[in-house]
Amino acid sequence: MKSHIQSLLEQTVESFKQQGILPADFEARIQVDRTKDKSHGDLATNLAMMLTKVAGKNPRELAQLIIDNLPASSHVAKVEIAGPGFINFFIDDNALANQLQAALADEHLGIALPKPQTIVADYSSPNLAKEMHVGHLRSTIIGDSVVRALEFLGHKVIRQNHVGDWGTQFGMLLAYMEELRANNGEQANLELSDLESFYRAAKLRFDESAEFATRARQLVVELQSGDAYCNKLWREFNDISLSHCHDVYARLGVSLTRADVHGESAYNDDLAQVVKDLDAQGLLSESEGAKVVFQEEFRNKEGEPLPVIIQKADGGFLYATTDLAAMRYRSNVLKADRALYFVDLRQALHFQQVFSLGRLAGFVRPEMTLEHMGFGTMNGEDGRPFKTRSGGVVKLVDLLDEAVERAEQLVRSKNPDMSDAEVKEIARVVGIASVKYADLSKNRASDYIFSFEQMLSFEGNTAPYLLYAYTRVAGIFKRAENIDLSQAKIQLEHDKEKELGNKLAQFGEILNRMVDKGQPHILCGYLYELAGAFSSFYEACPVLNADSDSARDSRLLLARLTAGTLKQGLSLLGIETLERM
Ligand code: ARG
Repeated sequence: MKSHIQSLLEQTVESFKQQGILPADFEARIQVDRTKDKSHGDLATNLAMMLTKVAGKNPRELAQLIIDNLPASSHVAKVEIAGPGFINFFIDDNALANQLQAALADEHLGIALPKPQTIVADYSSPNLAKEMHVGHLRSTIIGDSVVRALEFLGHKVIRQNHVGDWGTQFGMLLAYMEELRANNGEQANLELSDLESFYRAAKLRFDESAEFATRARQLVVELQSGDAYCNKLWREFNDISLSHCHDVYARLGVSLTRADVHGESAYNDDLAQVVKDLDAQGLLSESEGAKVVFQEEFRNKEGEPLPVIIQKADGGFLYATTDLAAMRYRSNVLKADRALYFVDLRQALHFQQVFSLGRLAGFVRPEMTLEHMGFGTMNGEDGRPFKTRSGGVVKLVDLLDEAVERAEQLVRSKNPDMSDAEVKEIARVVGIASVKYADLSKNRASDYIFSFEQMLSFEGNTAPYLLYAYTRVAGIFKRAENIDLSQAKIQLEHDKEKELGNKLAQFGEILNRMVDKGQPHILCGYLYELAGAFSSFYEACPVLNADSDSARDSRLLLARLTAGTLKQGLSLLGIETLERM
């Protein structure tokens, strides 16, 4: 409905241009909002106020002129001017009912699809030298949910798992892998099942043995010069490390595949060219032997210029150099309209600097947007960055195990007679959903406190609440299996039916807002409100015991669309639903 009103207003603005009320080249930014108070209609716009200056008329006079020029629409029951010049639209209940009826038969639930774009999403992107930890959880699940919604809206999404698979630390790791193999043969691969201790052990060897350290440095050089043996060793190492990541993705139900891996090493051959191109444009300066770029707008607290380091004095390239190459690839090879980066907010300055430099150097097409979808830190209940009791990094796998274990206790206590297998399956879904939903339901830019207790609660905006709400809505059909709904029609009479209908009709605009801002909490909040609107409706409007068959059937259809929307919405968050819990 919102986009419908928007388009009516766009047509009005066009006719104003033709009538000379507005200049022909005027670009109007038309805003339509949902009203809080339904006595003011369903939707409102401040367009008249926006146009006063350019049209040279007072806002109420303009509002009337807009109303007079508005194309006729069967969706609009009434239009009113309010206050200084707001225009309020009252949506026709029949039109809304018809829209919902059509949504039932549509695989996209009736939402208007936007113009398709090509969108690159850089997310998860762990470093392969180490175990994936909770810090990568946020990137992985926020990115995956935005990507799912983008695809549902018809966009072409190219996933880029920009893994850290390159750098001097690989020399040490490969030297250690080589040494282990010489001593224990293929057994050595097993050691790699715990990357964290593998890394520590390699570091220890590096520090204690000069011979080992020399071999490590030699391997870095060989790796960089493309030596076949060294390359094979490196690939084997990455392969094992990546398989750990993909175990985690599988458990989390994340859609990334091996084909989406496009790590730092993929840009290796382009880095020297990046330096040359920056140099050719006169952008490079020398600073203590390193090649750097200074941009006027980046300064530290003392007002001193902050450089981007492009190449170290020893010839080594940096994180920023790789990001410049990646940016160019995303623009010129992948032809993205938008490039999204789901990365910790602590890297905000890095992205500001490389984005601005990438544009300055002409590495990206001007029409491609570069968007850092930064997120805050996940803290423990003490408000500090999440750590194990002994102060170490928490492994993602351990965290998920604990969530599922706690969910199992919960499900068992609620259903003492349920079979063990069923309890375990429900616990798996609830446990994983809780961890994901707790993260997705917060504004990504804020830090948040990770609390098992809170995320597993049945009260409030949580996964268990929503999953349970879904089973209740879906359960209504189990009791109505033999009712034929093929001729049934949605009719909106009761206020609670209208409220539910209105909520259902917002799904499309919510999804568009979620993907534009890269904010899954917008969808979470919506699903929570939808579940609430359904329970108020269900309390006020008997379904199976409705006064008439037509009212009963209409309400069953509303329940069906609610169930469909909840299920689809949760699936776009990467969350499975249950029929029973
Ligand atoms: N590997 C990096 C890290 O763990 C994240 C990479 C994000 N993507 C990028 N294009 N810089 O911090």
